[in-house]
Amino acid sequence: MKESSAETMESANPSRPPDASTFSTVPEPTSPKRIGRYELCFELASGGMASVYLARAEGAPGFQKLVALKRIHPHLASEKDYVEMFLDEARIASRITHANVCSVFDFGEADGEYYIAMEYLVGEPLSRVHRRVVANADQRSSNLLPARMARVIASACEGLHAAHEQKDSKGELLRVVHRDVSAENLFVTYDGVVQVVDFGIAHARQRVHHTSAGQVKGTFPYMAPEQMTAAVVDRRVDVWALGAVLWELLTLRRLFLRDTDVNTMYAVLSGEIRPPSDYRKDVPPELDAIVLRALQRNPEERWQTAREMGKALRRFLAKQEELVGPAELADWMAELFPQGELRKQQLMDIARTTDGADLPEGVRRANEEPVIRIPRTKGRGTPTAPPLPASLVTLVIGVATVLTVLALDWLR
Ligand SMILES: Nc1ncnc2c1ncn2[C@@H]1O[C@H](COP(=O)(O)OP(=O)(O)O)[C@@H](O)[C@H]1O
Ligand SMILES: [Mg+2]
Repeated sequence: MKESSAETMESANPSRPPDASTFSTVPEPTSPKRIGRYELCFELASGGMASVYLARAEGAPGFQKLVALKRIHPHLASEKDYVEMFLDEARIASRITHANVCSVFDFGEADGEYYIAMEYLVGEPLSRVHRRVVANADQRSSNLLPARMARVIASACEGLHAAHEQKDSKGELLRVVHRDVSAENLFVTYDGVVQVVDFGIAHARQRVHHTSAGQVKGTFPYMAPEQMTAAVVDRRVDVWALGAVLWELLTLRRLFLRDTDVNTMYAVLSGEIRPPSDYRKDVPPELDAIVLRALQRNPEERWQTAREMGKALRRFLAKQEELVGPAELADWMAELFPQGELRKQQLMDIARTTDGADLPEGVRRANEEPVIRIPRTKGRGTPTAPPLPASLVTLVIGVATVLTVLALDWLR
């Protein structure tokens, strides 16, 4: 999902108007101003399936609450599969109550629109945190980087573990699997709390609705090998994805992303996975081992639960001289995004006022157009791969296997 201008306000410095040449203007269909009891204030992001808004819920006189409201695109609201997938996301996420999982308050249909109302996170996606670190020499070389990244992923492990442990009323595991863990779907708040978002393609045993059979969904560079082969998918695919994210956070490189989806899949299935310390000398062996265990292609050899992985990370953190907890992550976020929290507070203040004060540059109301978007930076970010038919995946895997066998033969 692309972030809209309201969220990417690096360029929204009122004294320095955005340079039009660095933006693309994408006209959007006019949004509704209201869905049920929610007043839509700003569009925060928009993707293939849904848009996310900063919205205001009104209740009893004097009651007001800001929420992040995810709304399925109107042209998909008539497609049963998409609606059911959207409602599945809401059902799964709303069951989970955990400090490291974004809370869902409400979901349903109103005025012909399907929506999910969730906690508005005053923070940044981890992908953005990552990009900030990459762009700053001091941050890149900071000897605190490994511990900070380990802390972020240790918290994400706890949030995912809570999701994995969801049980039905008889106490039976629902076998919830997120299936799309990536730096895009992990948030770091300005309070230093890490939250898992976007259960959009989560899978659960009790899930009644399946999207078109035979489709592989997820983000290829973080997809576990067994998820690609459409074999058994369980919580360990999320452990793999956490391993891939942590590897990239430590090395500040991409692990499996290649020029094409097929090459990316080939890298996931059989590419070499070097220890992070090969690229960054200050990654200690203990951290290398934690990452590499999460990235075992055989799920049996991986950390068996996200909690196990999180515990190993916390044991590592406990041995470090410097303390890295939420307070330290909060200080770090302030270093990385000096204006970030203030900007979000301003945005929230504007959203709270009924008749709208002056909008900061680059910010638009939800029912205005056009929207100014920060263009995608080539080669960075996490491209979300479209679903591939299972037959193609099987073909690719077949070809990859044959190539591997030939290569091994040739090496001998
Ligand atoms: N709870 C939230 N608080 C603040 N921003 C959010 C929240 N949920 C989503 N967003 C914004 O919307 C983007 C996409 O949301 P996500 O649920 O990941 O949708 P998608 O399924 O399109 O990936 C996020 O990257 C973030 O910028
Ligand atoms: Mg997402």
